[in-house]
Amino acid sequence: MKKLFGVIGDPIGHSMSPAMHNDLFDFYGIHAVYMPFHVSKDNLEAAVKGLKALGVSGFNVTIPHKTDIMAYLDQIDPLAEAIGAVNTVKNENGLLTGYNTDGPGFVKGLEAMDADLDSRSALIIGAGGASRAIYFSMAQAGIQRIDLYNRTAGKAEELVSTCPFKVQSKALDRESAEKSLKDYQLIIQTTSIGMSPDTEHLPLSAENISQGAIVSDIIYNPLQTKFLQEASKKGAQIQNGVSMFVFQGALAFEKWTGIFPDIERMRANVLRNLG
Ligand code: ATR
Repeated sequence: MKKLFGVIGDPIGHSMSPAMHNDLFDFYGIHAVYMPFHVSKDNLEAAVKGLKALGVSGFNVTIPHKTDIMAYLDQIDPLAEAIGAVNTVKNENGLLTGYNTDGPGFVKGLEAMDADLDSRSALIIGAGGASRAIYFSMAQAGIQRIDLYNRTAGKAEELVSTCPFKVQSKALDRESAEKSLKDYQLIIQTTSIGMSPDTEHLPLSAENISQGAIVSDIIYNPLQTKFLQEASKKGAQIQNGVSMFVFQGALAFEKWTGIFPDIERMRANVLRNLG
């Protein structure tokens, strides 16, 4: 019998996950299909019960359900628990386990660019949900210094004080972040600043980015935010948000099938989808 996978969210119409995963099922000869499901907040509990009752093999979870879904699962992986968000669920004989592959996916994408990750100093811009997943996962991966800058300083301070993994961190104000930008080999932009249609904005000045630094932005629309363009002019190596999206999907696919899929194939699929 064909296995069923899917993604639940609201909105869900523009999700690139169905095309990406269905292509992988075809490519690896796996008898399965991946469907988008539009689930409103009011219907989340019923939807999870329904997916379980139907014997769905696994599913992804996207906005706005990544935190709320945790109440309806049977088990939560410890990293997902620490992050407070689940984006991937696996069904094993009726037992639903929640994982977070967003943060680990981001780290895998960084590892693909830099073999010496753990000896680097990193600055994360932003202190929302995406920042939290990335920050905790980078700390768990052993990166020794990770500082944070956020418009609302209190949120960065709170993140630093709640990180359960051993890491040297401090929350910076805008002025000190801009001044010390040259000291970081990894700079990660996690806010929505620069996302289409407001593509002209920067989260902070890129002036002091050093040559050779890796600058990553989790935005993929546009493929090159203004911040990445400025970083590139400074001689940084840049990475856009396609990487995190593809690697979170690859880790979900691996949890479901045991196969770590072909990343370049996934990237090509996503880039076709983005037009
Ligand atoms: P996500 O889950 O995508 O991380 P989020 O939890 O709403 O979304 O977090 C949004 C992040 O983008 C926050 O760090 C937010 O900064 P504040 O904490 O100060 O709100 C940041 N952000 C969004 N719009 C911003 C703007 N116009 N200027 C500066 N920061 C902005």
